[in-house]
Amino acid sequence: MGNDAVEERLEDQPASLGRRRFLTATTAVVGAVGVGFVAVPFIKSWNPSARAKLAGAPITADISALEAGTRMVLEWRGQPIWIVKRTKQMLDLLPTLDPRLRDPKSDNADQQPAYVLKGDFHYRSIKPEISVLVGICTHLGCAPEMVAEIRPEPFDPNWKGGYFCPCHKSRYDMSGRVFDGVPAPFNLLVPPHHYESDTSIVIGVDPGSSSTGAV
Ligand code: FES
Repeated sequence: MGNDAVEERLEDQPASLGRRRFLTATTAVVGAVGVGFVAVPFIKSWNPSARAKLAGAPITADISALEAGTRMVLEWRGQPIWIVKRTKQMLDLLPTLDPRLRDPKSDNADQQPAYVLKGDFHYRSIKPEISVLVGICTHLGCAPEMVAEIRPEPFDPNWKGGYFCPCHKSRYDMSGRVFDGVPAPFNLLVPPHHYESDTSIVIGVDPGSSSTGAV
């Protein structure tokens, strides 16, 4: 009976990793329900085996159906991985945000692999339009929301689209670069990844690795 109530609450907030972590830490029973319930859609969608997921094996994402301006979320090593296909407008706005950011050039090398800065540093990605990020706030680990619309927001009257963390109001741009003056200290993490083909991204393996990420 109690578990049913927990499942209903978790169903309402499937993307809330921070909440899942909180529940897991609170009681073992609640945590087990939360992880099992939320993990099912990932397994069905992306088909890595549960055993491989637990081992932290690479996962492969098919982005052929990903439309411009939208995000897909998958899970790798227990972390939410965001793959976002950015529009030209999103890309064009990124340089205009540099003066408002804490680390606009991603000088902190711990937050991304060097190969995502080989092109235009504003993008933090291998291909300009495709952004791959770990969706965990660098402040205390909540799950930021994607707020892609370009319009005044209560948390920022000059909002140009990006990610907003509701826990303590940290903001990031569409490349995961953190704004100045917010609690989060670092840009969002970019996980190791590479393209297997134009429409297939392997998360967990750097470019040039011999691994295919197959399970
Ligand atoms: S956890 Fe995101 S702002 Fe604190």
